[in-house]
Amino acid sequence: MIQSSIERVARTRYVMPIIVALAVITIAITESAYQHSRSTLTQGVVLSDARLEAARTLQTLTDAENAARAYIASGRQDDLANYREAISETQSVRKGVAQLLDVLDPYRTLSLSNVNQRIDTHIATLEEWVRAAEQGRSAQAQTMANGNQSRERYATMRQEFETVLARTAQAQRTTRVSLFDAMLINRVALHGLVVLAVLVLALFMRKLRDGDRRESEEHGRLSAQVALRTTALRNLAGHHVHAREDERGRVARELHDELGGLFTAMKLEIARLRRVADVPDTALQRLSGIEQRLNEGIAVKRRIIENLRPSSLDQLGLISALDMLCQEAAAGLGIAVHTEFTPVDLDKDAELTIYRLVQESLTNVSKYAKAKEVRVELAQTGPWVRVSVHDNGLGFDTDAVQAGHHGLLGMRVRVESHSGKLEIISAPGMGTRVEAELPAQAPEVAGSAERNG
Ligand SMILES: Nc1ncnc2c1ncn2[C@@H]1O[C@H](COP(=O)(O)OP(=O)(O)O)[C@@H](O)[C@H]1O
Ligand SMILES: [Mg+2]
Repeated sequence: MIQSSIERVARTRYVMPIIVALAVITIAITESAYQHSRSTLTQGVVLSDARLEAARTLQTLTDAENAARAYIASGRQDDLANYREAISETQSVRKGVAQLLDVLDPYRTLSLSNVNQRIDTHIATLEEWVRAAEQGRSAQAQTMANGNQSRERYATMRQEFETVLARTAQAQRTTRVSLFDAMLINRVALHGLVVLAVLVLALFMRKLRDGDRRESEEHGRLSAQVALRTTALRNLAGHHVHAREDERGRVARELHDELGGLFTAMKLEIARLRRVADVPDTALQRLSGIEQRLNEGIAVKRRIIENLRPSSLDQLGLISALDMLCQEAAAGLGIAVHTEFTPVDLDKDAELTIYRLVQESLTNVSKYAKAKEVRVELAQTGPWVRVSVHDNGLGFDTDAVQAGHHGLLGMRVRVESHSGKLEIISAPGMGTRVEAELPAQAPEVAGSAERNG
């Protein structure tokens, strides 16, 4: 449910701007938290520095007072020098305190003036003591220094310092609280963004995986379909080839039986006419003419029958039929056709396939190869019968055969319909080798079953 609604959102065009806005907000929060904590930490450091400096100011004032008392008591110059040194150190240290407190509170909501006033008064009092001692009024100086007033002044001054620092610390605590708030928001925002990123990534990965799975399923389905269709087409093509051969055989037989019978009857009739008494010479001459035409008709019929179905194959066997084919080609082309045939074990259909393969190859040699030599071989090795026609002619690019040329394709269909393999090896200038392997003694039943199916 949640996933589907997320997916729905993910598909809208607002998703990218939303992601960018979230990223910008997160960066802004992180940045402000960083700046905030930085300034708070800096302020913390400054505050503790200010405390130290304040303590030092008080310390130097105490030193100055002690030195002043010593001078009053002893009248020695080195005590006076100590006093002057402590006073000048006080002046420089209090400047530092003022600067630090100014950094902490540039708007001067915290008043330092009280403290400064106290320090000034304290220093003025000390000056008064020392001046009295310098002018030889030691007794007066002693009296002033022993009074309770100076201790009280010191305590008040310390108190003023504490107040200023406490106020600053208070201001800091408020900032620290807001710092924790900022850090909390920052933390929540970061966690949210990380969770969102993981969610988006998971969704994306899932989509990728789904896509891959669908693609591979589709690929498998298409491959199976292609394989199925290819097999169907191959079977259909094989069926057509055999059906065509059957039809040719039937026509050849019919021509032989019917037309042959007619021709024979006509020849007998002519012979009988010749034997009839007192046939005029002109009629005999006409009869001879008719007989000659009849013989021509018989020759035409033979040629047609031979073209339709090589009778040599049925009458003389494969090797002799191939021999005749090769001799005819050699005579027709005027080139050497070398043959090397050894007996093979094949059924009639496979023999016809080999015969047609050699026939088509030799036709191609005569049409395209411009070869000087052709070698035709037939042999059986184990369960395979191999036939090859090799010429040393022009050759061709086997991948670039144009559409509409069906000789080589027909060969392949025939060979594959016997579960055989056909290879055509050729390249421009390299001659051509047509080579087929057929299983020996292909079962007769399967062949005729395919044809009838
Ligand atoms: N022995 C060969 N030598 C050179 N080219 C050939 C040879 N056999 C075939 N070819 C080339 O292959 C093409 C296809 O041959 P094929 O399938 O028998 O069709 P077709 O004979 O109708 O042209 C031919 O057009 C020719 O270019
Ligand atoms: Mg051809």
